[in-house]
Amino acid sequence: MPESITITDNRTGNQLEIPIAHGGVAASEWQKLLPGIWFYDPGFTATAACESTITYLDGDAGILRYRGYPIEVLAERSTYLEVAYLLLHGELPTAAEFDAWRHEITYHTYIHENVRKRFLEGFHYDAHPMGMLVSAVAALSTFYLDAKDIFDAESRRRQIIRLIAKMPTLAAAAHRFSVGMPFVYPDNSLDFCANFLSMMWKVAEPRFDANPTLARALDILFILHADHEQNCSTTAMRVVGSSHADPYSCCAAACAALYGPRHGGANEAVIRMLTEIGSFENVPAFVESVKQGHGRLQGFGHRVYKSYDPRAKIIKRTAEEVFSITGKNPLLDIALKLEEIALQDEYFTSRRLYPNVDFYSGLIYQAMGFPLEMFPVLFAIPRTAGWLAHWQELLDQDAKISRPRQLYIGTEPRDYVPIGQR
Ligand code: CMC
Repeated sequence: MPESITITDNRTGNQLEIPIAHGGVAASEWQKLLPGIWFYDPGFTATAACESTITYLDGDAGILRYRGYPIEVLAERSTYLEVAYLLLHGELPTAAEFDAWRHEITYHTYIHENVRKRFLEGFHYDAHPMGMLVSAVAALSTFYLDAKDIFDAESRRRQIIRLIAKMPTLAAAAHRFSVGMPFVYPDNSLDFCANFLSMMWKVAEPRFDANPTLARALDILFILHADHEQNCSTTAMRVVGSSHADPYSCCAAACAALYGPRHGGANEAVIRMLTEIGSFENVPAFVESVKQGHGRLQGFGHRVYKSYDPRAKIIKRTAEEVFSITGKNPLLDIALKLEEIALQDEYFTSRRLYPNVDFYSGLIYQAMGFPLEMFPVLFAIPRTAGWLAHWQELLDQDAKISRPRQLYIGTEPRDYVPIGQR
């Protein structure tokens, strides 16, 4: 028996049977009974804007899967580049496919000299690296005019490779500029994360060999951040993509959405919060102040996860490995105490607020030496794979342009009064 719902319009007595497919009902069906009546859903808490085959998320059960593979398995056994391939192609690559993919990504890591010299170096000396990244990604569209051919398969493939490959280069360039260090060219003999670390930290040595444990930790963090279905930035990507803008412009919009403290800026906010708390003993008073409505517990709560964020569990383990190399982040004790108190407090448990991925990721990044301003940038690098997978899916689905309705609550028509008579 197919699932359906029957609704009656009490104004007319008309009845309509609406099928439930994949856990949802189509607005076009409701509209048959309620033409001109809009669903009011700010923040899209009960609205699915698309069908997708990329990422499965069950917030109650704490499940996250990319293309059917559990995040725990991918974090343990895969690499970010392989996961990026999986997200974009739907299947894990064969050895030959992966070699070709890695080769192409590696050989597109360079950015045009004018992107660096004329564009990036034009920023103010203390520019925020995320602001630089948002603008630099948008600027790439002016360097690759073929990007406008979004229905040409080969052009689309080229832009996807360019974007995934150049994000670490742009990210590191933004950092080096913001701290007054010279730009470091990509080293194509290194793998994805080691190359990024080289571009970040290399000084005068002929070759920068990153600590393999730290490079692997970064790779795991990149896997965990690669996609998260219809989050704010991916929604921005889809909304802009639905107008058929080129992928660089779409990605710049997604980066901009990621910049905010409610999304990609959350791990930076966590470190600022832990620093402000200052010591272990101040934790109970801080939790009390949050409960009184003074701010939020950063890194806690999630629109979809209503139990422990599975990514947070993996990150906690990764943190231990990183701290065994870098030494423990002094803020860790405060974070652990905060988590312990919050998880026993009725305010947080009744609202189903648990640590999310960003509660611990900032501690790792800070221990690895990344400045706070780089945290959203570190999120944008891997999420690019997810954004592009959704962009590609949207185009393949020939999706309609995103254009929600509104409920007008402004004034009724009124007469224009000339300025001298107001
Ligand atoms: N600390 C204290 N109270 C909170 C928190 C928090 N972090 N998050 C939600 N609440 C309370 C909120 O005050 C509200 O209480 P009440 O019902 O009494 O008014 C209730 O919980 C529901 O909150 P909401 O704002 O309606 O929930 P939302 O689903 O719209 O917001 C969120 C989700 C992630 C924006 C929010 O939990 C938050 O601001 N968290 C802190 C920022 C953060 O860690 N963001 C990273 C998200 S994970 C990374 C990513 O995927 O982008």
